[in-house]
Amino acid sequence: MTTKKYELVELDSGRKSAMEARSGTLGPDCLNIAGLSKDLGLFTFDPGFMATAACESRVTFIDGDEGVLLYRGYPIEQIATKSSFIEVAYLLIHGELPTSQQLEQFDHAIRYHTMINESLLRFFNGFHHDAHPMAMVSAVIASMAAFYHDSMDNHNPRHREIFAHRILAKIPTIAAASFKHNRGQPFIYPRNDLDYCSNMLRMFFATPAAEYEVDPVAAQALDLLLILHADHEQNASTSTVRLAGSTGTNPYAAISSGVSALWGPAHGGANEAVLAMLEEIGTVDNIQKFLARVKDKQGNTKLMGFGHRVYKNFDPRAKIIREMCHKVLARLGHTDNPLFELALRLEEIALKDEYFIARKLYPNVDFYSGVIYSALGIPRSMFTVMFAIARTAGWVAHWQEMIADPAMKIGRPRQLYTGPVQREYVDIEKRD
Ligand code: CMC
Repeated sequence: MTTKKYELVELDSGRKSAMEARSGTLGPDCLNIAGLSKDLGLFTFDPGFMATAACESRVTFIDGDEGVLLYRGYPIEQIATKSSFIEVAYLLIHGELPTSQQLEQFDHAIRYHTMINESLLRFFNGFHHDAHPMAMVSAVIASMAAFYHDSMDNHNPRHREIFAHRILAKIPTIAAASFKHNRGQPFIYPRNDLDYCSNMLRMFFATPAAEYEVDPVAAQALDLLLILHADHEQNASTSTVRLAGSTGTNPYAAISSGVSALWGPAHGGANEAVLAMLEEIGTVDNIQKFLARVKDKQGNTKLMGFGHRVYKNFDPRAKIIREMCHKVLARLGHTDNPLFELALRLEEIALKDEYFIARKLYPNVDFYSGVIYSALGIPRSMFTVMFAIARTAGWVAHWQEMIADPAMKIGRPRQLYTGPVQREYVDIEKRD
């Protein structure tokens, strides 16, 4: 790592603050502004963290201009073709690819933690039949803190490891329980002899009256989607997990806050919003009319699944998913899927449009993921839950990295205050 020196001078007084910029292994240097407040009484102002690195991390790297995504240094294109979600989770959490024995042990630990406490299962009776599954999943994950609190010491590496196994293993079970609750069907218990995605599909689609035969193509497609969504460096939900976790809170509570942050349509909720948008557009003939509304900006209509804070080029995950879409739809016999055809045309038209070209807006990971989830029979309201299952691997990796760092500090941003200056309290009878 190299360091470059900078100096900020207050022109009126000549007071100075010296700063150093640290180089990472990849990406732009970062200026250490810790001395600014002491030297010049200044804070920095950067709403939306447009140019602020909130932490040092070794997990994931994105080059938004080049469309590069690396998990622990490995390109997403290689990971997507050669790995499995369970191996990716191991890689993200442990930092290295596992040996066969390590992978087997990790896989075994996940398979044998899939059941949830029966009391936790009864929580679902308290939800209305049409409760959004993201609301149920975040609430039930937060409730896990009630089951694993006294036994959880954040500073004990073995406790952290057991937490990682539990949350990765149980989140599909919790997701399936929310799915079944919406359907009014009985809960289907997990089966430890099935792999992660096959078990999940079975918990979703089997009923006590009819066993569900898992289609290996469907399980493989789901595994790929989980890999592509597993981590994305300091995105809004991961930063939320880090911020909540920095207080030393119970890690299940921190993960639940990540699920809540993911839900918004600007983040993980985009996959659900894309399908709603495609259904609203309906046919190719309506694309231009819809895009005119987007460009007009009057109604705050966005082309969902397009644009990204970091990628100003193709999101590499979108390219992989689009290709996967072709394969999955063909293998599942949905060759003339109208929503996919519409998405392809919409992408083609938008990419030639000056509005999107000038703003460097390209399809992101969520533009096509919903089409695949739909083809797998997963309802729209569950799309963001699927994202949450995948991103749990990244959230755990970042939480572990932060908690294990002896230099960790509570996250506590400052502000530019623009409210009233100090004033005297006015008694109610004297107010106009
Ligand atoms: N449709 C139309 N215009 C857009 C879009 C879009 N999808 N995205 C950005 N813009 C415009 C925006 O209005 C602004 O225009 P102008 O310069 O005229 O004011 C310009 O592009 C820059 O956008 P921004 O809002 O400053 O960019 P941002 O980095 O703050 O927002 C984003 C990034 C992802 C929130 C945004 O692109 C967006 O809302 N996209 C649609 C939602 C979506 O697909 N989200 C999923 C992101 S990928 C999955 C994940 O990681 O969560």
